[in-house]
Amino acid sequence: MDDGHAMLQVDSSSSVSKSGLDALDALDALDVRDAFERFEQFAHFFHELLDGPDPLREADCRESYREYVPSHYKHLFQPGKSGLSNRQLTWLRRLTPLLNLPPGTTILDMGGGYGFDSIFLASCGYEMVFCELTSHHIGVCELLKRRWEQEFGPLDLRCVLARRSSGHAERVQATCEAIGKVNAVVLDEVAHHIEPVEDVFSLCASVLPKDGKIFLLEPNFWNFGTQAFFFRRRGFRTVEPRVDEDTGEAYLYGNEHLRTHGRWKQLAEQAGFRLCDTSYIVPYFMHSQPAYHARWRAVAQKIPVFKSLAATHLTLHFEKE
Ligand SMILES: C[S@@+](CC[C@H](N)C(=O)[O-])C[C@H]1O[C@@H](n2cnc3c(N)ncnc32)[C@H](O)[C@@H]1O
Repeated sequence: MDDGHAMLQVDSSSSVSKSGLDALDALDALDVRDAFERFEQFAHFFHELLDGPDPLREADCRESYREYVPSHYKHLFQPGKSGLSNRQLTWLRRLTPLLNLPPGTTILDMGGGYGFDSIFLASCGYEMVFCELTSHHIGVCELLKRRWEQEFGPLDLRCVLARRSSGHAERVQATCEAIGKVNAVVLDEVAHHIEPVEDVFSLCASVLPKDGKIFLLEPNFWNFGTQAFFFRRRGFRTVEPRVDEDTGEAYLYGNEHLRTHGRWKQLAEQAGFRLCDTSYIVPYFMHSQPAYHARWRAVAQKIPVFKSLAATHLTLHFEKE
């Protein structure tokens, strides 16, 4: 662990100025320049990979995933005018509170999609447990992990297949057993898809020790643009009955079921967690790295009413009591 910290010391010759570092939310474990460099390397690698011919042909998944994942993520990994694009900077900013965890921390990426967050965090020195609902998601994640490892060496990343809990306590328990014990859980755009949402907090309470952490990455309910975006997609139907394609089982789906900051806090408290901190992510005017860590941005993100309305995303950090 000492080696990890030493490797991540702030270099005084860094192009990131000291005032920039002061202004950015403190990054204890990983310095700002290091986080940027790692994210740039990550975005560049996946842009090149997904832009190539049939990049997922060897993935153990359904054909539709082989087509969908490259076409969707190729754009997300498209480079910006000066390094990282606005969307990539927002992505990194949302993950920044996790980068305060010491290297070697075991983190569960619950509902990790195709594994991009897990691969990035594993490349920063964390022990990742990636959990998803289908073998197709896991097949894609394993292929992406293999490709990364061929280029950069081994990643500490284990995949777990979960069953949808659908309000059944014994299923939450079975998933917890497959996961084992972890020190932190990241839920990136996941909690608002799970119904009943209490299940996800029960799961976190089971897999985390006292002082274990949850990082809840959610859209900001109070941001007008965010609400308008989701409203156009789903109207008022925030909970939908669906049928699982693989098992044929009926279940309830959280259809972008956004909740207020206060409601997330209450749900976490009911499961035995206390809110430690909230990062308000105001992504506007952030087309370059200097703008990402500009002092005005750090100040703007702390102004009470402004931050609650202007932030498009929140990262809520909880600790188990
Ligand atoms: C919007 S995606 C987010 C994926 C990823 N975290 C990301 O940020 O790219 C939501 C993911 O949550 C997963 N999911 C939904 N309910 C889940 C559950 N009960 N257990 C595990 N994963 C779940 C879905 O399969 C889906 O991949």
